[in-house]
Amino acid sequence: MTVTASPAASSRTSVDMSAPNRDLSAREIALDVRNLVKGFRKKSGGSLVRPQYTDSRAVDDVSFHVRRGEIYGVLGPNGSGKSTLIRAMSTLLIPDEGTVSIFGLDVVRDEAQVRRLLNRVSVDAAFYKKLSPRENLLYSAQLYGLDRHVAEQRALVTLRRLGLKDKAFQEPLEEMSRGMQQKVAIARAFLTSPIVVLLDEPTTGLDPRSRRDVQEFVLELRDVHDATIILTTHDMPEAERLCDRIAFISGGKFVAEGTAEELRTLVGPGKTLEDAFIELTGEELAEEEQA
Ligand SMILES: Nc1ncnc2c1ncn2[C@@H]1O[C@H](COP(=O)(O)OP(=O)(O)OP(=O)(O)O)[C@@H](O)[C@H]1O
Ligand SMILES: [Mg+2]
Repeated sequence: MTVTASPAASSRTSVDMSAPNRDLSAREIALDVRNLVKGFRKKSGGSLVRPQYTDSRAVDDVSFHVRRGEIYGVLGPNGSGKSTLIRAMSTLLIPDEGTVSIFGLDVVRDEAQVRRLLNRVSVDAAFYKKLSPRENLLYSAQLYGLDRHVAEQRALVTLRRLGLKDKAFQEPLEEMSRGMQQKVAIARAFLTSPIVVLLDEPTTGLDPRSRRDVQEFVLELRDVHDATIILTTHDMPEAERLCDRIAFISGGKFVAEGTAEELRTLVGPGKTLEDAFIELTGEELAEEEQA
């Protein structure tokens, strides 16, 4: 297992560490990200007539791979590039530089095939809010070309599994809490039985019970459905509990990668993952909002 870490984001060094809890080294590579760059042009001043723009890199030369059946966590503060990375991996954004491949398929060149393999859940999932989860999910099932009955049964099983009451299946989404809507978003992503699941802050803002429901579902996705999962979070305990390996992202760059234990060890005995994060990135993680 290789751990890379550097307090300075620009220069990574490599350290060989012992094996993580689960040895995945013989597994095939599910996701391979190489030198990924994604930038945005932002207005930085000037006048209405002559606006000035600056280009900034939201994801700046990121490389990593994730093995089949692995849960890989990306931990970083607000604005560090987590969502941009997830979107570039899920075909929603075209990389400026570098490549992303999913089981050997390129996300740009083989977009249609890649879309059949993966799905994404984001904090800002879009729904028809006047419609119920059932109606929203059946609509998505239709877009995915799935059988209505099969999709409905699958969605119901997932929603029950996530602790949503059957009654809520028929209520308008706008009347549901954010946590409940998040569970519907997860059920929707799971309709297509993706083998790669990209979860962008799946538990942010959830109450402790819902958070646990979602975390257990994530573990089940891996253990029962053999899914490969990439998860972003601000929550250290969540990363420690769920992730086989974790990357710290800061200013669009990966500054360290390894198991939670390896990352803690990098900064010295008796240190927590949060200590490691602060030391290696030079940043504090925002306090996680609690529902
Ligand atoms: N569509 C966009 N247009 C312009 N800039 C963007 C766009 N999306 C993201 N950015 C910028 O890219 C940087 C990274 O944003 P990103 O949303 O990826 O961060 P994040 O780590 O997901 O943050 P958060 O924890 O708040 O969700 C930020 O500076 C952000 O302002
Ligand atoms: Mg984000």
